[in-house]
Amino acid sequence: MSAASLAMPPATETGWDTAPGLLEGATSIELTPDQCGLAYWIRSAAQGTWMGLVNEHAPDAKVPDYMREPGPLRSALMEEFAFRSVSEEIATRSLSDLVKLAPDTASMEFYATQLLDEARHSLAFRGHLVELGVPRDQLAQTIEQMVCEKRARVLQPLKDFGDEVIAQPDSFICGVVILTILVEGVLAPAAELSERKWRLLNPAAASIERGANIDEIRHLSVGSSVVRQHLLRNPGDKKRIADVILRRRLLWRDLPVNEVIYEREVLFQQGMREHRDVVEGYEIAAGIPLLATSPEQRLMMANEWSREMQDSRLTYMGLPEAIL
Ligand SMILES: [Fe+2]
Ligand SMILES: [Fe+2]
Repeated sequence: MSAASLAMPPATETGWDTAPGLLEGATSIELTPDQCGLAYWIRSAAQGTWMGLVNEHAPDAKVPDYMREPGPLRSALMEEFAFRSVSEEIATRSLSDLVKLAPDTASMEFYATQLLDEARHSLAFRGHLVELGVPRDQLAQTIEQMVCEKRARVLQPLKDFGDEVIAQPDSFICGVVILTILVEGVLAPAAELSERKWRLLNPAAASIERGANIDEIRHLSVGSSVVRQHLLRNPGDKKRIADVILRRRLLWRDLPVNEVIYEREVLFQQGMREHRDVVEGYEIAAGIPLLATSPEQRLMMANEWSREMQDSRLTYMGLPEAIL
């Protein structure tokens, strides 16, 4: 890494005021591992997006007092962030496989930076629970109580599948496909929805989401270009990769993911109504007032965005046959 590259200004796609939203950014920005190595990451993420954050959110983004009082709104956010914190920790640990298997220095560097990004996300979601009033010495135990059952029902089967795929020979590219299409491509819309839902109700939580979502634009863009480049050079790998996508989708279909999200949305709905004065007139998407949405509608919205995101990424990668 040269001193000159570190002296360059941060990239626009990593700036709080210049980065697009996650859904738009991840489907419109093209980035490659060659562009997003360590020098880029130090300049644009560590010394860019993350500079000056307090508790991993913008310093002027506050936690309203009502978020520290027991009630459905606080419970909805606690459930969401505890689950996200554990998911991000699992992603961090899984990324060590991609760092180990990366076929060249550029992708090794990129996945080493993504590993740290995901570790920071886990820290951010966990840390916000402390801001909501969970005593630091009870944090691990509190998260465990909230997530234990959901980890066993949702996260562990996904992790087991990823471990099985990565144990096969020549599995780097399949690992990237799972992460990009089937983990981040599926979860990004929920993260975008979360950023929008909490924007007024808890500006600190929305700011944590925004910071993580800026990182996710990079992960989705680079992951997609890794797969695209691989398939251009190795078109014979299409069938192997499409098979992994199909198997993982069948597993996902049988997991109670929507049930877990729906429970949180029901709590959010109760809490939002209790604080309707805060969100009066606020639109979650163009022409859709947040107050007018139901838990079912928000769930459908995230699922719809998720399908659009995956279709767009699969087309870009050169795998249109894997679109459902
Ligand atoms: Fe993440
Ligand atoms: Fe990510």
